[in-house]
Amino acid sequence: MNHDIIEKNLGIMIPLIVIAISFGFLVEVVPLFFDKKMQEPVEGLMPHTALELEGRDIYIREGCHVCHTQMIRPFRAETERYGHYSVAGEHVYEHPFLWGSKRTGPDIARVGGRYSDDWQRAHLYNPRNVVPESKMPSYPWLFTATVNHKLTGDKMEALRAVGVPYTDADIAGAADAVKGRTEIDALVAYLQQLGTVLKNK
Ligand code: HEC
Repeated sequence: MNHDIIEKNLGIMIPLIVIAISFGFLVEVVPLFFDKKMQEPVEGLMPHTALELEGRDIYIREGCHVCHTQMIRPFRAETERYGHYSVAGEHVYEHPFLWGSKRTGPDIARVGGRYSDDWQRAHLYNPRNVVPESKMPSYPWLFTATVNHKLTGDKMEALRAVGVPYTDADIAGAADAVKGRTEIDALVAYLQQLGTVLKNK
């Protein structure tokens, strides 16, 4: 009966929803701000190099994260297939996170080093050349397009503003590090380091 009154009266319903959600936020989210494990990088974690950073942006531009997660959950079925489950400290330099939520393809949080550079290139050129039954799209244009080196330093500077420890030398050298490189070079460099910090332990 009382429930009926609440459901039919937005003036009561909205404040009650706000209270319920705030409570959830307090219990679930606020403690994470104070949990060191959530903010400290795992040992050995380095910010992306200039080339990897450009590769990451291509990964975002091409929508790879729409089909691939980068989040291995702590379940046996996942850890046996993909390796050590993902931990927060591996992702502290990622802005934004690319955990994703849908797996049309496999999780690639630890794909770094699983295949050779040549395999990755052949696969991205046309996945069916190496995995005949694949339904992943082909990305042939990455092989001719070159990275726009003019923005790399600015991107690093922006990331530094939110806490990624790039040095002045990293930023000064960024444009030269990527100049003339193809987009496929950048994307493969990015893929080959994914998840390797914990994997190599
Ligand atoms: C439409 C969904 C889709 C999109 C978009 C997509 N993939 Fe895939 N990907 C797949 C599927 C399905 C597989 C498994 C078959 C295969 O290996 O080709 C796969 C496999 C892979 C693998 C091998 C993983 C492993 O452990 O064997 C890599 C690496 C990969 N994709 C990278 C990428 C990158 C980089 C992009 C963006 C440029 C991308 N994918 C975009 C669906 C997708």
